[in-house]
Amino acid sequence: MGNKTVLVSGGAGFIGSHVTVELAQAGYDVVMADNFSNCDETNYRGVCAILGRDLPLVRMDFCDEARVKALFAEFHIDAVIHFAAFKAVGESVREPLKYYRNNLLSFMNILENVRKIGGNVLFSSSATVYGEPDRLPVTEESPLQPATSPYGNTKQMCEDILRDSVKAYSGLRGIALRYFNPIGAHPSALIGELPRGVPNNLVPFITQTAIGKRACLSIFGNDYPTPDGTCLRDYIDIVDLAKAHVCAVTRMLEGRMDNAYEIFNIGTGRPVSVMELVNAFEKVNGVEINWQFAPRRAGDVTAVWADPSLACGKLGWKAERSIEETLAAAWAWEKKLANLA
Ligand code: UD1
Repeated sequence: MGNKTVLVSGGAGFIGSHVTVELAQAGYDVVMADNFSNCDETNYRGVCAILGRDLPLVRMDFCDEARVKALFAEFHIDAVIHFAAFKAVGESVREPLKYYRNNLLSFMNILENVRKIGGNVLFSSSATVYGEPDRLPVTEESPLQPATSPYGNTKQMCEDILRDSVKAYSGLRGIALRYFNPIGAHPSALIGELPRGVPNNLVPFITQTAIGKRACLSIFGNDYPTPDGTCLRDYIDIVDLAKAHVCAVTRMLEGRMDNAYEIFNIGTGRPVSVMELVNAFEKVNGVEINWQFAPRRAGDVTAVWADPSLACGKLGWKAERSIEETLAAAWAWEKKLANLA
């Protein structure tokens, strides 16, 4: 494979830090870049501790066009994995321009530079593009639904921008990975999710309730048309998810793509209800969660899970960790954070 260099924008975040570790362990040189607008250096230090060496870290904002240009002049970059984006659904509804400006501009600044070198871009998309699907599981051919938030819209728009750019600029290649619900933490408990303020997502809320930071978990809705009345999701382990990025980048760099622009679902193919997840967390970790049923949350879909067979076939990837292992890792990380605090 040689010493190919991968730039990870948003490398100090939850997904970016796990991807950095897997890339480095697979033999890639990695440049982490982050503006630390939504995280501190905990995960950067954790990445270096796991790898036993310091990685190059660039503090920068990808909305700064001149800075992005300078970065590409400084490093020979073979591929970019782009995570640097805002991701809070509710905030995006209140401050749409903040989301459109940041999420679109940063991505276009990257593409402007990558297209000049005929390079490779991997975009972190989301299953949110499928909305409430008519048929389950969803394949990459499933129809997209109009986005229900500016955040979701930026995912769809960035996919469009990447597809159109690949079509127009010869030598540019792109892959969009549509993640289902990434959860868990690295088994070392040295990196994980660091939500600021009250978590929006289920698993950080569970771990914070278990540790006593939150009084009670609200389970949003118990009257959905599902076996136990709670929503169904496809929870994908963060390390499994990170490994999918290594497979996708390697596919691009080795010239094995069937098309210059490809899309893959990254999920387990296994639906799990909110209630099942809470029960599994309690059982595997031997802790009790204080929870109550609450009204449905606006914007939630009843059920969504992946058909990951395209990724299995083309990327040679599949989710391997059990939900129990993943929930144990999430709890180990929360306990580690409590000791750090
Ligand atoms: C959410 C976003 C999605 C984004 C993804 C990133 C919404 C509507 N969707 O997905 O766009 O790509 O995060 O990870 O925000 N739940 C509770 N109690 C809680 C929190 C969640 O019952 O305190 C339930 C939700 O109703 C849902 C499930 O847990 O059924 C998962 O929620 P969450 O972790 O927020 O993920 P999504 O809503 O699927």
